[in-house]
Amino acid sequence: MQSVVIVLKRDIISVLDMKDDFEKILENALNMKSGPKKGQKKDPLKGKMLGMVFEKPSLRTRVSFEVGMAQLGGQSMYIGPDEVGIGKRETVSDVANVLSRYVDVIMYRAFSNKIMRELAEYAQVPVINGLDDLEHPCQCAADMLTILEKKKKFKGLQLAYIGDGNNVCNSLLLGSALLGMNMRAVTPKDYRPNADIVSKAEEIANGTGCKIELMSNPFQGTEGADIIYTDTWIYMGQEAEKSAREKIFLPYQVNEKLAEKANKDWIFMHCLPAHRGYEMSAEIIDGPHSVVFDQAENRMHAQKALLMAALSK
Ligand code: CP
Ligand code: NVA
Repeated sequence: MQSVVIVLKRDIISVLDMKDDFEKILENALNMKSGPKKGQKKDPLKGKMLGMVFEKPSLRTRVSFEVGMAQLGGQSMYIGPDEVGIGKRETVSDVANVLSRYVDVIMYRAFSNKIMRELAEYAQVPVINGLDDLEHPCQCAADMLTILEKKKKFKGLQLAYIGDGNNVCNSLLLGSALLGMNMRAVTPKDYRPNADIVSKAEEIANGTGCKIELMSNPFQGTEGADIIYTDTWIYMGQEAEKSAREKIFLPYQVNEKLAEKANKDWIFMHCLPAHRGYEMSAEIIDGPHSVVFDQAENRMHAQKALLMAALSK
């Protein structure tokens, strides 16, 4: 077993890694989105290199990180699934140590949160989670930025997440709890979000004065909602379960009927990629309540703030 070198660095593996400055990160993202300010440093990440390691496909995460890094004056490098072979071609710790000699920050999209944490443990540079089987913190930061832009607040709002209690749902539970927004995870009983994350979110929500609820009735779940959020029923790596899952989740499709009792100005959110006719109808995602492309754009603005947070001394 190799020894771990203790270095002070800012990993963002979970939404909990933003617990002390989540609102500040969102404020910085909004500031950067609104354009350069007088006196602001140009190219703050000049000379910095981001290494992006992907074990799964991506459109948003890859492009938004790459463009965001370029806008901050830095550079990035895509390292695809067949190139590194983490844990197969060489050990996770060797990959972490070697990458740390070349790049200043690592973005990693992984199959497993366990390997994500192992990479972060051995890397001497910050590691940002670009999705694993437990969380999707960058998505959550972009989602919260979008809600802040559209609704101007978090407290008092009701977010209804409908569908599979997956990585996106887990991160939204933690994010909502931290920001004091009520959230319902509305899923079939056997597809609830991670139990440890639910307990943690409930504990945080007690302090921030909001309510975290688990429900199974989608009509009850969307009643009085300000935000209805859904995600794919079959996530990357689960393709073999496709037909079984489609049957189980069909009653959870977000369509006009399901959204009837939402609040008047409700917004529809989805992390994308989306599957029209499955987790939501085309009328919903392409309709007037949908904010999915603003949400996708915000991946870049939120991640610029995350890169700045990870790389600022
Ligand atoms: N939402 C999201 O993470 O999209 P990609 O899988 O395309 O990166
Ligand atoms: N829950 C989905 C999100 C894709 C961005 C997945 O893990 O595949």
